[in-house]
Amino acid sequence: MAEKFVIHGGQPLRGDVAISGAKNSVLKLMAASLLTPAEIILNNVPSLSDVDVMKDVIAYLGCEVSQNDNTVQLRARELTSVEAPYELVSKMRASFTVLGALLGRCGEAKVSLPGGCSIGKRGVDLHVKGLEALGAEIEINHGYVSAKAKALTGAEILLDIPSVGATENIMLAAVLAKGSTVISNAAQEPEILDLANFLNTLGADVNGAGTTEIVINGVKPESLTGATYSVVPDRIEASTYLMAAVATHGDVTLHNVFATHLSPIIYKLQEVGAEITTVSPNSLRVQCPERPKATNIVTLPYPGFPTDLQAPMMALLTTAEGVSIIKETIYENRFKQIGELKRMGAEIQQEGNVAVVTGVEALSGAQVRASDLRAGAALVIAGLQAHGTTEILDLHHLDRGYEALVPKLNSLGADMIRVPVEEDSPEKAAI
Ligand code: EPZ
Repeated sequence: MAEKFVIHGGQPLRGDVAISGAKNSVLKLMAASLLTPAEIILNNVPSLSDVDVMKDVIAYLGCEVSQNDNTVQLRARELTSVEAPYELVSKMRASFTVLGALLGRCGEAKVSLPGGCSIGKRGVDLHVKGLEALGAEIEINHGYVSAKAKALTGAEILLDIPSVGATENIMLAAVLAKGSTVISNAAQEPEILDLANFLNTLGADVNGAGTTEIVINGVKPESLTGATYSVVPDRIEASTYLMAAVATHGDVTLHNVFATHLSPIIYKLQEVGAEITTVSPNSLRVQCPERPKATNIVTLPYPGFPTDLQAPMMALLTTAEGVSIIKETIYENRFKQIGELKRMGAEIQQEGNVAVVTGVEALSGAQVRASDLRAGAALVIAGLQAHGTTEILDLHHLDRGYEALVPKLNSLGADMIRVPVEEDSPEKAAI
């Protein structure tokens, strides 16, 4: 049944919140688990619909999957299929990462072209070129990528752009390849480092992850064992809470975070006037009693300002003092929140990939619709700071990436509920 959030805004967020494991890491660790027949136990797994989709994808391929709270057990003793079908892959782009793992383990794979949030073109040409360089023969037909390789051989691969997904797919395929693979201009996101650490725990030989050059020395299949591994904290979820705290002039302490992964955000939030202090190695406090000031943002690959936080940051800046300029350089279509924020009283002019945000004194509650995951997070931040009541529709987008959003925010003093959209109501008819 369709549901909506109802938020009575205006309360500063105050208190403590624990950050969950990273969506964009755990999905790839689950794909990587297909490389070994041994048992894998993943801890700190967030409860998210995207994780459920990935469980379905790997279970379809023959992996045994079970879950107990935030722990997931995986065992791909034998893979019974090398084909990941459209019905599953179209739900979530991250499932495309099974391509590299299947190719590495089985020498063949047939994976549907991916889906995911509709925020831009999101090609797979770099994934394909990288796997071809390792010796795979690839055909793209009828919406499927089919890859075959008698034996994968290490190669030097220079990525045109530091694509996260392409870096991961190539890493997974290279783990069991013959010889060494060097990925230059590799993505440096913390999730890449988490994947490398996980692979090394299994017995792979991956070096340099977290820098622009990753070297994967191929190992024999029998070198890979099982592992127990804890997923890295979600820097995007953590940053969303930091921004919500600043936007509501609050005082929030985050637990289970890696502050170094939050550097680009901490830097910008300090620039708008927030005070951020390290309370303990994995805890961070943010305070912002005054109205934040405007700033400028350009989205870039890590360690630049993340595209995934452009919309939440825009929501914060709608009420900052002054004019902010936001430039989105990663995706062509990631400003879908603008129309909804304007319905709440924001003043934003968009010209191509640049948005000019003129801070207003306050937003006013309205009924709005989440168009994708992070645009949805932006609307939550807007609703928390707005005067009056905000209703957010299309919550399935938010369920993909924010574990226990309502209880976490309410524990910080928000006034927010999740309720069914009534049958035959106008909002239901519009969905
Ligand atoms: C990952 O997507 C994340 N998703 C995204 O988060 C995130 O926005 C993105 O990295 C950038 O940080 C997951 O990890 C599941 P890319 P990915 O390949 O791997 C172009 C969220 O909200 N490109 O680095 O798909 C592409 O079109 C999601 O949690 C090609 O042109 O991102 C895009 O413009 C949304 N050809 C840019 O590169 C390719 O072959 C970056 O994409 C691959 C990518």
